[in-house]
Amino acid sequence: MLWRQSISTRLAVWYAAAASATLFCLFAAGYFILEAQLVHGLDQLNTSEFGELRAHLMRDYKPDDPAFVETRLRKPVERAHALFYVAIEDTRNESDFRSSNLGDVQLPANPRHDAYNIVLPQAGELRAGVFRLAPLVITVATPMQGARAQLRDYLRMCAALMVAMVAASLGIGIVLSRAALKPIRLISETANRIGSDNLDERIPVGVVNDEVSTLARMLNQMFDRLQASFNEVRRFSAEASHELKTPLSLIRLHAEKMLREGVSPQHEEALIVQLEEIARLDQIIEELLFLSRAEANAISLQSEEANPAAFLQWFAQDAQVLCEHHSLRFAQTHDGEGRVSFDRKRVRQVLLNVLTNAIKVSPPGAHITLRSVLEDGTWTLVMEDEGPGLPDHEHERIFERFVRVKQPDADDRGNGLGLAICRSIVTLHGGRIRARSGAAKGLQVVIELPAASSAASVAA
Ligand SMILES: Nc1ncnc2c1ncn2[C@@H]1O[C@H](COP(=O)(O)OP(=O)(O)OP(=O)(O)O)[C@@H](O)[C@H]1O
Ligand SMILES: [Mg+2]
Repeated sequence: MLWRQSISTRLAVWYAAAASATLFCLFAAGYFILEAQLVHGLDQLNTSEFGELRAHLMRDYKPDDPAFVETRLRKPVERAHALFYVAIEDTRNESDFRSSNLGDVQLPANPRHDAYNIVLPQAGELRAGVFRLAPLVITVATPMQGARAQLRDYLRMCAALMVAMVAASLGIGIVLSRAALKPIRLISETANRIGSDNLDERIPVGVVNDEVSTLARMLNQMFDRLQASFNEVRRFSAEASHELKTPLSLIRLHAEKMLREGVSPQHEEALIVQLEEIARLDQIIEELLFLSRAEANAISLQSEEANPAAFLQWFAQDAQVLCEHHSLRFAQTHDGEGRVSFDRKRVRQVLLNVLTNAIKVSPPGAHITLRSVLEDGTWTLVMEDEGPGLPDHEHERIFERFVRVKQPDADDRGNGLGLAICRSIVTLHGGRIRARSGAAKGLQVVIELPAASSAASVAA
């Protein structure tokens, strides 16, 4: 889920949520303030209407006349009947006066407040105010319809602004979080690129001294330490291989001398086994030295432009002999025209290594094929056998040093360095080598070498 995978999405959503929640609180506060102001306005309207009524009453005041209120107020009250509902109670004789817009309905009283809201069936919601002018209690009410309409408009505007705010804050949040996380992305891209073959690269550190540049600096220090220990290991394996060569030669010379001088038949057999093992050790040391030098870029290729078809014919002669010796059949094909620049000796070494592996696992009478195609600037060589093949998870592992996969029928005497050497030679050529399952069973080893120079040479 994108939400879980991306910090930038999470930050954008949090930002949008925080901004929208803040705006929502402001709008809610605004609603209550606006409502209070509108109600206050209505209260003032009621007060001013009361002021008018009082002015009419006070002129030539005759409190003992029971019809006094009716005669003085009926006219002014009816003039304002669209805006005000008026009810007057005389506390002495319990007679009352009501504006005609009230009909038979009483304006309900509220014992706790002098200003309050009421709802009348014919008039809807009203704001009422109670005013005392002894012995009269005057209730003036005015419709809240206008105020409610204003509040509804306000709510509609807030809702529209909230939608705009959510969209805008999401957009701003995405832009801001991307900008804030850019240094982290840079760090992860660089760290991803740094591998055993380019330990020199470092994460660029900004001029500012913030948390991200501290992290980048710490990672760079870690890469420094890693590079130092990598170099140490490489140096150790190169030096150890080198130092082992001399004592090993001496042991071999002594064994050969003893063989020449003559020993008992049992000792002679032991000495021959010893010499075989020494030869094997010698080969391992040579191969390790080659790998160390290749890693240190100390191997220079003797590349020359050549025709792959001619090179393959030359290789096929040796391959044929080797396969016949093991009762196997070898076939080779080549498609594509052009010339490629490569080190013939090294590429032959790669093909021989791969062929030897195929021979080791092939049952008698099986076919081994080498298909070569030169097209689109790539020279592809595929060696396929009819052996037992390998499970998918081993396809990459077999290129590591000293990795040998147990095969029931195969000759198990390899050192597990052949394919590691093949990979370093192919990498030195700027190409790649990989294994995959064959069309039927068996294994395919695919070698791809860049052949950019072929196009140039054909054009020339
Ligand atoms: N064609 C193949 N089919 C099945 N397994 C293979 C094939 N080629 C290589 N392997 C497996 O990969 C392992 C590594 O091969 P690699 O060539 O590196 O070492 P090796 O052949 O054992 O020894 P070396 O080549 O150093 O003498 C082999 O031991 C074998 O188990
Ligand atoms: Mg091998």
